[in-house]
Amino acid sequence: MSEIKVRELFESKYGKDYRMFAAPGRINLIGEHTDYNEGFVMPAAIDKRIYLAISPAEGSKAGIYSADYNEDVNFDIGSEAMGLPQWALYPYGVVKELQKQGLGPGGFRAVFAGDIPGGAGLSSSAALESAFALALNTLFDLGADNFALAKIGQMAEHNYAGVKCGIMDQFASFFGMKDKVIKLDCRSLEHEYFPLDLDGHQLLLADTRVKHSLASSAYNQRRQQCEEGAAVIGKDNPGVKSLRDVSPELLQSFRDNLDQEVYTRCEYVIEENSRVLATCQALESGSVEKTGELMYQSHKGLREKYEVSCRELDLLVDIAAEFGIAGARMMGGGFGGCTINLLRSGKAGEFREKASEEFRNVFGHPPVFYNVSTGDGAKEIL
Ligand code: GLA
Repeated sequence: MSEIKVRELFESKYGKDYRMFAAPGRINLIGEHTDYNEGFVMPAAIDKRIYLAISPAEGSKAGIYSADYNEDVNFDIGSEAMGLPQWALYPYGVVKELQKQGLGPGGFRAVFAGDIPGGAGLSSSAALESAFALALNTLFDLGADNFALAKIGQMAEHNYAGVKCGIMDQFASFFGMKDKVIKLDCRSLEHEYFPLDLDGHQLLLADTRVKHSLASSAYNQRRQQCEEGAAVIGKDNPGVKSLRDVSPELLQSFRDNLDQEVYTRCEYVIEENSRVLATCQALESGSVEKTGELMYQSHKGLREKYEVSCRELDLLVDIAAEFGIAGARMMGGGFGGCTINLLRSGKAGEFREKASEEFRNVFGHPPVFYNVSTGDGAKEIL
């Protein structure tokens, strides 16, 4: 749903006195499951967003209307709310996390909607967190910067949605820039923008339209395995605080001291970090071919070592490879959602046709395709 629709809905419910905010979803070129290991990622914000109209209200009542779900939620920001629908846990979590930082917002009323496809791995939940974090910070003059607000969103996800995610999605939602990918160091939050200059190529997302139910439990389990690996290595190597500090050689020297599965997970993460750095070089030297190769390698690691892919994602990547496109891999947490494909701009139509047919033959429905356009990070729309 569009910005105009959100404005109309807010105005018909509460009148013309409000402020408007927007926060985008994200893609990730490469660097998957590295963020919570203090590694590197390469996301970009997209031009699909959550739009949020909001005004302060008397007292401590929060009223939020989700236009997409056609559902109203009311809670008192001073007490614990019970039985909220899933979507409301994100704004509620943001309110609670702001309060934990001593940044208590007042009561408010809000209407929101978005055009980020849900369940596609494009971080519509991070966009929702970012939109509320920015809006409440601005409305109540809380004085937090965008780094702090991104972390508030991440903590809302941890503590209220139950996913122990890294910082990538919320960071991209705040710091994205049109036509750029961000190389983000998830340890220091230092970041650098790279032009998304793809030399006659484009990015195309292919959405499997499936989300396997083990996604969030498997996600938390992967994170825990990585932490276990880093802790075992760190016992003998006090400089090791996370997998970021582990070289391939150091890991290898622990082959017999680590659980085999934990070892393989750590190996993937360490390799993926170096693929992000190699992708930066490839982008700098304008080598689309190299970037694509690294994407295929990333997928292979996610599929075989990290084991977060699924048959639907694998088939789409296999079709892409067979079709001869430059690069393809699963994107985001895994177990469903999208693949990200790097292909010659003129080839997109033919690829879509072929992938639709082959995918439908196996799974009974075609994937849904989205052309990617990058966009700017969260902001107030004046
Ligand atoms: C999800 C999480 C991110 C990141 C990716 C995997 O999108 O929210 O923090 O870990 O999965 O790279």
